[in-house]
Amino acid sequence: MKGIILAGGSATRLYPLSKAISKQIMPVYDKPMIYYPLSALMLAGIREVLIISTPRDLPMFEELLGDGSRLGMQFSYKVQLVPNGLAQAFVLGKEFLNGEPGCLILGDNMFYGQHFGHMLKEAVASAQAGGACIFGYEVADPRAYGVVEFDAEGKVLSLEEKPANPKSNYAVPGLYFYDETVCEKAANLQPSARGEYEITDLNKLYLNEGTLKVKLFSRGFAWLDTGNCDSLLEAGNFIATIQNRQGFYVSCIEEIAWRNGWISTDQLTALGKEMKTNYGRYLERLATLNR
Ligand code: G1P
Repeated sequence: MKGIILAGGSATRLYPLSKAISKQIMPVYDKPMIYYPLSALMLAGIREVLIISTPRDLPMFEELLGDGSRLGMQFSYKVQLVPNGLAQAFVLGKEFLNGEPGCLILGDNMFYGQHFGHMLKEAVASAQAGGACIFGYEVADPRAYGVVEFDAEGKVLSLEEKPANPKSNYAVPGLYFYDETVCEKAANLQPSARGEYEITDLNKLYLNEGTLKVKLFSRGFAWLDTGNCDSLLEAGNFIATIQNRQGFYVSCIEEIAWRNGWISTDQLTALGKEMKTNYGRYLERLATLNR
């Protein structure tokens, strides 16, 4: 399974913050936003990642993340010239996936909670066996999201993109696992009324085929939004609260690479020493513990 992070768009709801720089590079407390979705892919065990962004912003992601070797990973980069929908990730990512199953995560989606790694690994196995696996998360107002409706047995009844009258309160987070037919399906999509290749339309193809699975995140789980300046600040405060209370860092990509066995303890120490911050000292401290 390979991973794609889509970090494009113009984030006009964050203006003037996002006028000159990418939203997904902005700080969420102590790290750039893209660390959070990247860490989710890493927890899923994904080592090969394609980052898609605008011509303006892609070089900054390359400068931040490099070729991935420092994390025992492989990163590639691809420009999206026109921001015409999430499903385009699988048109732009066709060569990268090269016939393998793929996971897409949106560069502004943040997840935190117990058993997340376990759920991700189940989703990987599910998509590798065939079909698609997406998630559902109950929110007070789902109108800004893809919305999934299902019956008492968990069978999906409908999927709708930003419905004015949602059929359920379950929003679909921006984290999707697909089998190897995904690029072919994405290539045949038609643009929606708002002119975008919708991820919800791609998911509907799997639904109609009878191969779409939905896993639910429970109440205690956090799926955070960073769409406007209030939700961005709230996300930062949330991360600060958890980290300062427990002393463990959230979505620390160097820690996950080390715990996954992708980098050695010496490499972790070296990464820590490069940063004269609490973040760097955290990495050095981790390196003295048992993996
Ligand atoms: C996109 C998807 C939507 C999904 C959401 C999750 O919406 O179209 O289905 O629920 O991401 O963040 P956007 O944020 O691009 O409006």
